[in-house]
Amino acid sequence: MKETFYVTTPIYYVNARPHLGHIYTTLVADTLIRFKRQRGVDSFFLTGTDEHGINIERAAEARGMPLQQHVDEIVQEFKEAFAHLGIEYDRWVRTTNLYHEQGVQKLWTAILDRGYIYKGEYQGWFCGYCNEFKEVDDDIATPLCPVHEKPLDRIAEESYFFKLSEMQDRLLELYRSRPDFIQPETRRNEVISFVSGGLKDLSISRVSVKWGVPVPGDPGHTIYVWFDALANYITALGWGNSEYQDFGRFWPGHHLVGKDILRFHAVYWPAFLLAAGVEVPSSVRVHGMWLSGGRKMSKTLGNTIDLAVLYKHFTPDMIRYFVLREMSFGHDGDFTYEALVDRVNSDLADGIGNLASRTLTMVRNYFDGSPPRVTGGNAEGRLNKEDACQVRAAVEQAKAGFDGEFDTLNFSRALEAAWAAIARIDKFISDNQPWQLAKDSARRADLEAVIATAYEGLRQVVLLIGPALPNAARQIWQQMGCQGDPLAINPAGVAWGDQGDGPLRIGQVTGAFPKLPKDKIMSEIEKERAADQPQSGQATTEQALPAEEAAAPSVATGILPLAPTITIEDFVNIDLRVATVLAAERVPKADKLLRLQVDLGEGEPRQILAGIAQYYTAEQMVGRKIIVVANLAPRKLRGLESNGMLLAASIGEEGRPVLATFTEDVPNGARLK
Ligand code: MSP
Repeated sequence: MKETFYVTTPIYYVNARPHLGHIYTTLVADTLIRFKRQRGVDSFFLTGTDEHGINIERAAEARGMPLQQHVDEIVQEFKEAFAHLGIEYDRWVRTTNLYHEQGVQKLWTAILDRGYIYKGEYQGWFCGYCNEFKEVDDDIATPLCPVHEKPLDRIAEESYFFKLSEMQDRLLELYRSRPDFIQPETRRNEVISFVSGGLKDLSISRVSVKWGVPVPGDPGHTIYVWFDALANYITALGWGNSEYQDFGRFWPGHHLVGKDILRFHAVYWPAFLLAAGVEVPSSVRVHGMWLSGGRKMSKTLGNTIDLAVLYKHFTPDMIRYFVLREMSFGHDGDFTYEALVDRVNSDLADGIGNLASRTLTMVRNYFDGSPPRVTGGNAEGRLNKEDACQVRAAVEQAKAGFDGEFDTLNFSRALEAAWAAIARIDKFISDNQPWQLAKDSARRADLEAVIATAYEGLRQVVLLIGPALPNAARQIWQQMGCQGDPLAINPAGVAWGDQGDGPLRIGQVTGAFPKLPKDKIMSEIEKERAADQPQSGQATTEQALPAEEAAAPSVATGILPLAPTITIEDFVNIDLRVATVLAAERVPKADKLLRLQVDLGEGEPRQILAGIAQYYTAEQMVGRKIIVVANLAPRKLRGLESNGMLLAASIGEEGRPVLATFTEDVPNGARLK
């Protein structure tokens, strides 16, 4: 049977504009698929958008836009961002596609029929501001919303459950019998230890969410967004619908995902499929995150990589090369524009670009545009130097290592191998100084040998780098006068010197990669980035993440939209007072709680429990001026009564509290208005 290869990216949320993180996974998939196609493998590449759920609803609301218009607009932005980079996917799935919704319902029914879904009651911590359940630390008596830092309410809601608890053994058996199911190894171990710890049944419907796929036969319930989203990998091939007929041909496939969504792909997804009686994926391949300045990218920190800026200064091939070369797949990588400019200049302008233009210029100048051949006259022999043989060996070594590295997604090392060959050819040219040989007609054969070897080496390298640098490869290939599309020629089938019959003639020689003026570009980028920072309080389309991801590292957060408007009467009802902390201590067995005695000028100190112990020590708190919500109903935390709440700014994605205070002397008990 013919080999097939099916690769997917996560489908992207349409509550945030596309950024570097999204294009990374998609570029990896695109490069991999081009690599497979070049080797004649029947391949299929799926990407798309995740468009249901409360967060998407809220993002549309924040923009004051009808839902459908909002999602259509963001989908278009994603498509344009990918098109700019020349990404060639085969299909774009949208979870709002009718065929997908039919497939999701079919998957639900298949699992239900096999007895893995039941109706029950979901008990959880609910945030009224977010309008959703939150996964929080069970340690805390009254946990706070990680987004709003407000107390959560304990609420029960009717829900359908998936019997995940019954899948533990089958999942562990899957990981054991198929060691490459989750790659790399570190992520596999993480998943095994998570699943070994026991699995709880999973709530897979919501009554409070409307923007989604209705539960078959019970339309008051909407199918959980992750159940809906994961199903895209099969519905887009036609599973459970009549739109497409590609399931038999391409499934099972390989999922490329960031480590932020590992659990969904390596635990829930195979569990759903096992329960439905559908074959599980071939592999889940997990990459790290792009950081910026050593920190996760986020709008709040102002360190995201804006695609408009990136695209303005760098060509698609520059971006492709940089992300593939700089990030070792599986590990986090730091993105800086400086590093990007440096890589472009050293590896592309001075590396492949320079090799191509110097070789072809010499073909034009010394051989009237017809490259001499290594075959026939045995060019290496004529040169009578080991050198040419070493060049050939370096190129063949790069070719031999390249495929293995690509198959295991070590793009960085694969490119390193190709660049080692480029450096070797370059050195060969410099060592043999063809410009000197050209001055001596008695050394014409040597000159031929040098140029023939360089030309052939370049030809081989261009085929190798095609999947990573499609535009440059095609441009150089054409300038070399070679026939056909280099991305359709399997390098393994092209032997050293095997240039076909007809005489070759090079085309017009233009530099593939001009050198970038670093200082000028950096100062322009600085200005553009400063202009792009959102003002405090300004709504952006980026929203808080759904509860399930809140605990995992992710980059899509932003400035929160304002809470609903209130009247002055509403505000007057909130009694804010100045106070001083008299005593503070940790609450045993509660990581986050400090027990404070505070003076509000009432004569008697008050006890307040504050969830700040991970950020402030008891010593730091004593003597501190704080602001307290003084008329908050008392509540019990860990059996201790709390009589009020401290005010703090909530910073960054983790919601780090920074306590509010005064710089002037203010008496305890003074009211804030
Ligand atoms: N909609 C879900 C996925 C559902 S798949 C059935 C989702 N979407 S997302 O828009 O948040 O995209 C997450 C993916 O984007 C990550 O898994 C990763 O592939 C990519 N990246 C987002 N930010 C990233 C970085 N900073 N660095 C690298 N990749 C990142 O989760």
